[in-house]
Amino acid sequence: MDLFRKKSLKPSVLSGMKKELKTKDLIFLGIGAIIGTGIFVITGEAAEAYAGPALTLSFLLAAVVVVLAGFCFAEFASRVPVLGGAYAYMYAVFGELIAWLTGWFLICEFMLAVSAVASGWSGYFQGFLKAMGIEIPHALTAAYNPAKGTYIDIVAVIVLLFVTYWVSLEAKTALRLNNWMVYVKFAIIILFIVVGVFFVKPGNWTPFMPYGFSGVVDGAALVFFAFLGFDAVAMAAEEVKNPQKDIPRGIIGSIGIATVLYIVVTLILTGIVPSSQLGVKDPVAFAMRFVGHDMVGSIISVGAILTLLTVTISMMYSLARLLYAISKDGLLPKAMSKLDEKHRTPKNATYVAGVVAMFFAGMFPMGILAELTNIVALSYLMFMGLGIIKLRKMAGKPKAGEFKMPLVPVLPLVLVAACVVLMLRFQAMTWIVFMIFIIIGLGIYIFYGYKNSALNQTEK
Ligand code: ALA
Repeated sequence: MDLFRKKSLKPSVLSGMKKELKTKDLIFLGIGAIIGTGIFVITGEAAEAYAGPALTLSFLLAAVVVVLAGFCFAEFASRVPVLGGAYAYMYAVFGELIAWLTGWFLICEFMLAVSAVASGWSGYFQGFLKAMGIEIPHALTAAYNPAKGTYIDIVAVIVLLFVTYWVSLEAKTALRLNNWMVYVKFAIIILFIVVGVFFVKPGNWTPFMPYGFSGVVDGAALVFFAFLGFDAVAMAAEEVKNPQKDIPRGIIGSIGIATVLYIVVTLILTGIVPSSQLGVKDPVAFAMRFVGHDMVGSIISVGAILTLLTVTISMMYSLARLLYAISKDGLLPKAMSKLDEKHRTPKNATYVAGVVAMFFAGMFPMGILAELTNIVALSYLMFMGLGIIKLRKMAGKPKAGEFKMPLVPVLPLVLVAACVVLMLRFQAMTWIVFMIFIIIGLGIYIFYGYKNSALNQTEK
């Protein structure tokens, strides 16, 4: 049994999808996937319960981890331009078992992120419906929790039904809408900054670290969620015109923009509202209402409702393409790599992604979904860090024109250590479900993937 059989480092010529995305499309895809629930919803709880005004430091800490991971991605993308993102890179350096685990963690990450964002969206949207006098039956308003009389979050399920259908048929149109929404996203964030800056009371920043540095790290572990999606850019490789140049730029560009916006927004947010009062579902809009700008608050709410939709679209788009790439390698059933004749999109893969995401979004609360998303993402980012060190051993330093991660092996090792530190901050429950995911993933590989792998077929 060879669990470490590898794929070649040479670029694969996988065709079938249209090659029409450029750097700007990728930055938009990145921002579309990155900026969402993390800043619009999770900041509230993170400031109130963990970091206080030092949430800015939590974002900085999380950003450092993400930038280090972004460097790994950029070097891999420019040297191993194959479809499938991290999964495909690991196939080339560590072989099949680690590649599959990475692919599996990525599938879990995107699926859970789609579900978490749909759940956050449902919260905002239900608030909006309530304001118009429309009430959904209580049993259908939130995740499964019979003690509180709720059984399913029906709004989250319905929004995913819509997103799945759309992404399965009209990926390009969906991404175009995504681009428009990215403008909306920028607009509401800038509106918040421009209005908010006049209401900042520096007194609200003291005490800066009410829960000490430990709270800052806890906050970082949670708001790490706000950066996820940057890895989606690498997965669009097959539809990118010039992946070697465009993908590193797309990744670093979208992480940079998100980091700056997050830090400015958090500074202003905690400067306007005392962080002990920020534990609400819609902290950014709430801050505007807090200073008497109800109208601006409503505009931000509507904008957030629209833009959270783009996060689910971008993530669903990438998830379907990931399932497609893994299925092409034989590690998942072939039906998932079938392209729709007319639209050239992986329709079956999108349906599977959609149905599973609907289940999680309907049944689990957002907090659990966000922690789970983070733990699976941090796990595969550790592989990425180690992968860069291995890549340098296998293929030497990058050539001129290829992206070079600075200070290897020091920075990749810092990335690995930082991932471990953040992972250790999660609750026992998150670790238990994470272990179950690992067992399921290994089961799929042992009972299906190993036998059906395309590499297995070539060996015979
Ligand atoms: N980064 C994405 C968000 O915050 C998942 O919604």
